[in-house]
Amino acid sequence: MKKDTNGFHRFRGTAGYIASGPLVDAVNCAVALERPLLIKGEPGTGKTLLATHVADGLGMPMLSWHIKSTSKAADGLYVYDTVQRLNDSRFGGGDVADIRHYIKLGPLGLAFAAPERHVLLIDEIDKADLEFPNDLLRELDEMRFTVVETAEEVIARQRPVVMITSNNEKELPDAFLRRCIFHFTEFPDAALMRKIVAVHHPNLDAALLDQVLIKFYWLREQSELRKKPSTSELIDWISALLRAGITRDKLESHIPFIGALLKKEQDADALQRYDTKGGSYPTRWSDLGPRYNQ
Ligand SMILES: Nc1ncnc2c1ncn2[C@@H]1O[C@H](COP(=O)(O)OP(=O)(O)OP(=O)(O)O)[C@@H](O)[C@H]1O
Ligand SMILES: [Mg+2]
Repeated sequence: MKKDTNGFHRFRGTAGYIASGPLVDAVNCAVALERPLLIKGEPGTGKTLLATHVADGLGMPMLSWHIKSTSKAADGLYVYDTVQRLNDSRFGGGDVADIRHYIKLGPLGLAFAAPERHVLLIDEIDKADLEFPNDLLRELDEMRFTVVETAEEVIARQRPVVMITSNNEKELPDAFLRRCIFHFTEFPDAALMRKIVAVHHPNLDAALLDQVLIKFYWLREQSELRKKPSTSELIDWISALLRAGITRDKLESHIPFIGALLKKEQDADALQRYDTKGGSYPTRWSDLGPRYNQ
């Protein structure tokens, strides 16, 4: 472990999340420079989960903002609940005269207003329209905004640690990228994957795990697959194998519960055809080729 003489290496990973060296560096870089960390990578490679563990590791509370196609940047700051105010004025209740009661801070607004430094997750930023990231630039830079209805300014007392995930559905604007620290989560190799599996299935038999990983990486190598199984699918598959009491021997010649791994009918059909044609499955790492020789 690196010695932390200057307070840079604040995040070192947690027991519940296996972070590669470059990912730990990217987190620490973003924390030190107070820049948002943009994380890309295949679905199911732990992008969203990371924020929870960064919050844990840094001992900070966390706020999440899950982006949808209809999300607007301004909603992350605050929304003015006009409907509630109208209801209160028609049916009584509430202090209609005081507009501040109807200003509801969004996740970004709450993170700014909070007395303690927060981790703020902006999850799946690429789901929103193209203007969304551009509309956030000023607030993320200046860490302040004005509530127009009350003319009050919300100024961040501490800059939140902003973690942004993207599945690459849309390109993000250069002006936005310039302000972020970037990390691409490479798909874990077998050694890293063993550690990740151990977090979720700590008592897994080593010989069974070998068969599991050999089948899993073999599947991922099949070029005709439309959707490769990811880490999260592997974890689910192992849960199914354990619950059903599948042994290492049973796994040598067969891939059960394929629905936990393959999520497209074309992929499941292709494997079924391979199976009925008597296609063989690898049982040793050397069957997978030089890249996998352990
Ligand atoms: N490095 C890791 N350490 C521990 N668990 C992991 C790791 N990577 C993935 N996982 C497992 O995979 C699951 C999926 O992770 P997560 O939801 O964060 O993926 P994601 O990259 O955000 O996927 P998507 O792009 O589909 O939203 C986690 O709940 C966890 O079980
Ligand atoms: Mg996610």
